Amino acid sequence: MNRVDIERIRRDFPILAQKINGRTLAYLDNAATTQKPQSVINAVKEYNRRFNGNPHRGIHHLGVEATRLYEAARMKVKNFINADSAQEIIFTKNATEALNLIAYAYGMTFLEPGDEIVITISEHHSNLVCWQQVAKAKGGVLKYLYLNDDYTLDWEEVERKITDQTKIVSIAQMSNVLGTIYPVQEIAAYAHTKGAVVVVDAAQSAAHMPSDVQVLDADFFVFSGHKMLGPMGIGVLYGKKELLEMMPPFLFGGDMIEYVAEQSASFAELPYKFEAGTPNVEGAVGLAAAIDYLNQIGFKQIQAREFELTRYALSKLAELPYVKVFGPTHLVKRGPVISFAVDGCHPHDTASILDHYGVAVRAGHHCAHPLMQFLNVPATSRASFFFYNTKAEIDDLIDGIKQVRRWLGYGS
Ligand SMILES: Cc1ncc(COP(=O)(O)O)c(C=O)c1O
Repeated sequence: MNRVDIERIRRDFPILAQKINGRTLAYLDNAATTQKPQSVINAVKEYNRRFNGNPHRGIHHLGVEATRLYEAARMKVKNFINADSAQEIIFTKNATEALNLIAYAYGMTFLEPGDEIVITISEHHSNLVCWQQVAKAKGGVLKYLYLNDDYTLDWEEVERKITDQTKIVSIAQMSNVLGTIYPVQEIAAYAHTKGAVVVVDAAQSAAHMPSDVQVLDADFFVFSGHKMLGPMGIGVLYGKKELLEMMPPFLFGGDMIEYVAEQSASFAELPYKFEAGTPNVEGAVGLAAAIDYLNQIGFKQIQAREFELTRYALSKLAELPYVKVFGPTHLVKRGPVISFAVDGCHPHDTASILDHYGVAVRAGHHCAHPLMQFLNVPATSRASFFFYNTKAEIDDLIDGIKQVRRWLGYGS
């Protein structure tokens, strides 16, 4: 992407042009949520202006149109992640709900006392607390994979911890704190030799790399629309059909039944068995438009751009002796997420002073308390990029960090 491409792309994102505290916004909080291009904003607006109806219920024109758009979005998601069938695509509220669905409908149903669940120490609470609950309720054991000094996994530990007792391995494809990209395909292949099912949390990765659930051989794969240019309130659970068919429904109500008698009910076929109640059609429509936008740019370009931004940011941060980066400093197998600490400055102070300069970063535990304990820090600051970011914004971040040090009384 050259400068002209980037300027054109940035014009698609109206929110990026605004001033914050009198300065041009540098939005570097994309791991929390991404911004929406005009095409996504328009798709949602157009749906509400012309097509809104309750899908799968209305015989009338609008009900039919809403159904058509909702199912077209499902097909788009199926193609986006190369699922075998649209029946394997379940719309949820977000990645969190998708993970809870797996934990309840699969974990609570099939785990037995003594069975093991394996996750990494860097999991987001969404992919951690639900497994704690399953382990507690079923008498299972929750085991953690820890990290090497370069924030990668130790393969020997993977082989040691995933055993014949392991029933579930659930791992983020990209850490929302460290940026590490974990070898989920290799882990899935190994876990399958032990008979475990593999859950891939793609909340961070789906927007930054191509997803192919068949190549990964993921049993379940989850992500959120809002982290990939789409609206909030729409997420995706992919599951292999044979597993989804074995699982009981997670929520009960309208749309997910086949027939209801006074004392019993039978349930609808996939995917509707897992979609109780009126769904978020405008969210699905917006997600479909987001997928179109990502495909139009292409992951080759997105990855090349993000690699360049990450390389630049890491090299600039390395010039500041008072900054420590938590995450791989090499560029292999890492995404555009950089957690850091500024010596002598609390991450919240760092983020609020940066905000004063128009630079939006996240500060806190990033929904990863056990990882913070492992890193032995209370919190970190985190800058996360997307293809629409620029080197000038990274310069703003670096200048801002220098200001943070000055504000807090350090000479440099
Ligand atoms: C790795 C990871 N998993 C899961 C989630 C949860 O996503 P959501 O809040 O959209 O459900 C996040 C959110 O930051 C995340 O980074």
